Amino acid sequence: MYREAVKVKIAIGSDHAGFGLKQEIIGILNSLNIEFMDCGTDSGESVDYPDFGEKVSSLVSSGKLERGILICGTGIGMSMVANKFPNVRAALCNDLFSARMSRLHNDSNILVLGGRIIGRDLASEIVKVWLSTPFEGDRHQKRLNKIRKIEESLNNHGT
Ligand code: RB5
Repeated sequence: MYREAVKVKIAIGSDHAGFGLKQEIIGILNSLNIEFMDCGTDSGESVDYPDFGEKVSSLVSSGKLERGILICGTGIGMSMVANKFPNVRAALCNDLFSARMSRLHNDSNILVLGGRIIGRDLASEIVKVWLSTPFEGDRHQKRLNKIRKIEESLNNHGT
């Protein structure tokens, strides 16, 4: 359950299909006193999700911001974009269990939501759980280290 949200600055972005839910989540972040950077989009006019996925993911990948939230229609396209970036562990969580586990076991640093799949109230609970659940570390850290190694070897070999 929601305890205390981590005090991080969040990058948040969406395409047109996630715009309405993004605005709702911004309201939630404001009510929790959590700082955020709104990376767009700014209306329901049709745009391309990779442009906004890239903005948020590059901020998290570079370490400029600790965490991100991305929303498109299903969450699938944004997940594909975000997980191309080194150091990004994006998790598509349209349910509470996934949101909790993505923090406990995967130390997810970008939460992805499907704006055409879930409603405002469920999204609100997912965001709160995701923000307040810590990473468990231990054996899970060992597994994340392996992901990091894969990233490094792909970078070195250009494959
Ligand atoms: C836009 O119509 C839609 O394709 C996009 O929001 C997303 O669901 C892609 O994965």
